[in-house]
This record gives sequence, structure tokens and C-alpha cells, in this order.
Amino acid sequence: MEVIKTIKEMQRLHPSLAKPLGLVPTMGFLHQGHLALIRQAKEDNASVVVSIFVNPTQFAPGEDYERYPRDIQNDLVELEKIGVDVVFTPSRGEMYPHGFNSRVEVDRLTSRLEGASRPGHFSGVTTVVTKLFNIIQPQRAYFGQKDAQQVAVIKKMVLDLNMDIRIISLPTVREPDGLALSSRNSYLNPKERQAALILYQSLALAKKLYRQGEKDAARLRGEMVRLIRKEPLATIDYVNITDAETLEELEGIKPPALVSLAVKIGETRLIDNVILG
Ligand code: PAJ
Repeated sequence: MEVIKTIKEMQRLHPSLAKPLGLVPTMGFLHQGHLALIRQAKEDNASVVVSIFVNPTQFAPGEDYERYPRDIQNDLVELEKIGVDVVFTPSRGEMYPHGFNSRVEVDRLTSRLEGASRPGHFSGVTTVVTKLFNIIQPQRAYFGQKDAQQVAVIKKMVLDLNMDIRIISLPTVREPDGLALSSRNSYLNPKERQAALILYQSLALAKKLYRQGEKDAARLRGEMVRLIRKEPLATIDYVNITDAETLEELEGIKPPALVSLAVKIGETRLIDNVILG
């Protein structure tokens, strides 16, 4: 496994990697959710690059960029075990040298949900992912449904800007009790870890009510909100029921619908989602 830190070296290396080449972009502190994407990439491609870069431009001022968890040594051990070909871990200065002044922006889709709560977030994501695509030149790239809006935005960017890359999205990997794996779960103390179950429980409630015939988005959303409010450590940022592709809010639930939410547990902001239908 090669560990590469500079863009120049990565650009020199990629033509010699066996094709098709799969890329899994990550911010590191790898868990089984990341590893599921990487295993699938291994299965589908002749070679695999994993990028590890905590991207400062997708964090707003006051968010957790500085304290975002990092453990590159352990990440490399896990990636070696899976048999990844190349790990690309550039520094901040390598990706954003002095005078860097460009941005890739997807409109509309990014104005809702996470985009509404975290202005500028998706512009940071699309810019860094474009840079990674340009530097690594993969045929396929892998993303988790855990970040459903991120998948929708990247697919739109690739379509609109004619990037010749297949975007593959994979289901959310969860703890046995339902909590979606996330690097940010490491912020939770034991009490908060227990309280965090409310995200999955409210999504499970949405699924159950939908199966029982509830098709009114406002009523379904209302039941979820009521449940979450019973958890004293939880503060709702948003709970939304939208079209899974356009992310436009729904009145009547037409499948496939995306039920997504962002909830703060103590100081930790967590997101999760399920698809209905
Ligand atoms: P990060 O949060 O490290 O996630 C990397 C990839 O792993 C993303 O595609 C994310 O959706 C996926 N992932 C995270 N938790 C998951 C889970 N429980 N199950 C399945 N997949 C999961 O998302 C980012 O990094 C960044 O925005 C990035 C795309 C790397 C751009 O900086």
C-alpha cells in the first residue's frame, strides 16, 4: 500500500494504476461505514484509492474542524488489511495553497436540509470532491447513503459538469442498536450515546407509520417530532420529508421519499435518514 501526500506524486502515479480505478473519499477516523464502501470498491475495481483529508472548507466557522477526530495510524492499519492500493493524505496547504480562489457550486439542491443549516458546507464538499476527482481520475467513486443529500449533490454535479465518473452509493451501516456509525459519535458520553438512539427510533417510527398507511407528511413528521422531544438531551435542528431526488418538501408522501433529520445530542450534531418506499 502506498501512502501519498502530494498532488504531484498522485498525478504521476494514477496512470500506472490498474483500471477501473475506484475512489473512496473520506475524512478519516475510519469506521465500518467507511470500510463497507472501501470493500465494495475493492470488489468492483482493479485498484482502489482512499483519500483521507479533513476538508476545512466544508466546516463553517465555529464548527468542529479543529477537534474533528483524527487517527491516521489506525486508519492505515485498517486500509492495509483490506488491501487498498493507495492512500492519498494531502495536507491542508497542499490542497489549498496560498491564493487558492476557486469554488464548485451546485445550486438549489444545496439550499435545503443540511445546506440550509450549514451555509457553505456543500460548496466545500463539491470543491474538494472535484479536486480529488481531477487529481486521482477514478472511473467510480463511492459515497454513503448516511449523507443522502451529499450523494444527491455529487450526482448532480457529475451530471451537470459532464464528469465521466460513476457515483455509487451504499446503505448506511449501523450499530446493533440502530445508531448510524459516524466519526462524530466519538464526541458522545455514555448518557448521550444512549440518548442518540432517538434519531433511529424516530426514523423507525416514520417507517412503521408509513407502512401502516400514513401518507400525510405533516402528520408523520409531527409524530417524529413528538417522540424526539421526549428525549431531554435532544434538540431538533430539522426533521424533513422530501422527494428523494429533488429534495423538495412533500405534502403527500410519494415514494421514494427521504425522511431526514439533524438533531443535537448535547453539543454533538448528528444526522440520519431513511427512504420510504
Ligand atoms: P466522511 O464523513 O469521512 O465520510 C466518508 C464517506 O463515508 C461518505 O460518503 C459518507 O457518507 C460515508 N459514511 C459515513 N458514515 C457512514 C455509515 N454509517 N454508513 C455508510 N457510509 C457512511 O463525507 C465526508 O467524509 C466528506 O464530506 C467527503 C465526501 C470526504 C468530502 O470531504
